[in-house]
Amino acid sequence: MHVKPLTLLGIETSCDETAAAIIRGHPDLPREILSDVVLSQFDEHRPYGGVVPEIAARAHILTLDQLISAAIEKAGCGWDGLDGVAATAGPGLIGGVMVGLVTGKAIAAARGIPLVGVNHLEGHALSVRLVQRVAFPYLLLLVSGGHCQLLDVRGVGDYARLGGSLDDAAGEAFDKVAKLLELGYPGGPAVEKAALTGDAKRFALPRPMSGRPGCDFSFSGLKTAVRHMTTALGALTAQDRADMAASFQAATADVMTDRCRNAMAMFRETHGAGAQHTLVVAGGVAANQALRGALHTLCDQQDFLLATPPPRLCTDNAAMIGWAGIERLALGLSDPLDIPARARWPLTGATG
Ligand code: KG4
Ligand code: ZN
Repeated sequence: MHVKPLTLLGIETSCDETAAAIIRGHPDLPREILSDVVLSQFDEHRPYGGVVPEIAARAHILTLDQLISAAIEKAGCGWDGLDGVAATAGPGLIGGVMVGLVTGKAIAAARGIPLVGVNHLEGHALSVRLVQRVAFPYLLLLVSGGHCQLLDVRGVGDYARLGGSLDDAAGEAFDKVAKLLELGYPGGPAVEKAALTGDAKRFALPRPMSGRPGCDFSFSGLKTAVRHMTTALGALTAQDRADMAASFQAATADVMTDRCRNAMAMFRETHGAGAQHTLVVAGGVAANQALRGALHTLCDQQDFLLATPPPRLCTDNAAMIGWAGIERLALGLSDPLDIPARARWPLTGATG
């Protein structure tokens, strides 16, 4: 069958990033990011130390139109060059999701092109395939601000959940620890930066769930331990902060390595012990270099290949939404214009 590349507009507004991108490609052909513009709302939310949903929704409304125009201009494809539009339809902060999805619907209706309502988590799950030829099935560690899951990715729309967090998401833990250490917002990059000059052995933090069967996670005990030890120190020096950041980051990397090791065994049981499999790490926390390093070592030991999207594609962006749209459209999947915006939308029927 003759396949031709598809050119899609991707729109992402589910949290605190307003983003638009134009992607051209096809699962069986090369792919190209023609443009990828992101406007982070860090400055708007910084005074509150976290994302304020109402402020986020308003900021999306104010900036999305210009961002989409800029993405189309930068790509040089023109409105006529679009084969479809993909917008995040959930899960996320409902006000923001509605802004992006309604905009996508309006464009699809006005241009007479198909709409794909993308699950944000599927955007993260498939993001690696935008930049690398990774075949299904693969094992996915999805670690972001709102999610922490291990998934067996069998195909587009076909996910089996192997484990997930029983409490906080991994990124949430990074953000809370950053707040405790007064390192600022957003927390993940701040903790990683502080950890560079810290001693990871100074604080003996717990490794929750490590050594247990299965591959569920728990981060609340770790966060509480950080709070107790930090409170015991009293006024924090820069070195205290760096040492605690490094100790926390090391504990997190250890926990993830332990959980992934079990997930690899489960994955091998399902898909065969003989073949070499791939571990994909995606979501905002996958930008963390210490975590990548630890998982690299694990993959070498377990004969898995490690595939990680570049950091820019790990944190929220519209390129991954556009790509997920192409993956779906290439299979003949699109959505009606009355598809709802959803605050909650698990990939597999379970939450976590
Ligand atoms: O995927 P993402 O951009 O948004 C969600 O869908 O949640 O992930 C954001 C999360 C935040 O919690 C942020 O602190 C974390 O990813 N993060 C990091 C790093 N960069 C972002 N965590 C650890 N190390 C990083 N370098
Ligand atoms: Zn995300």
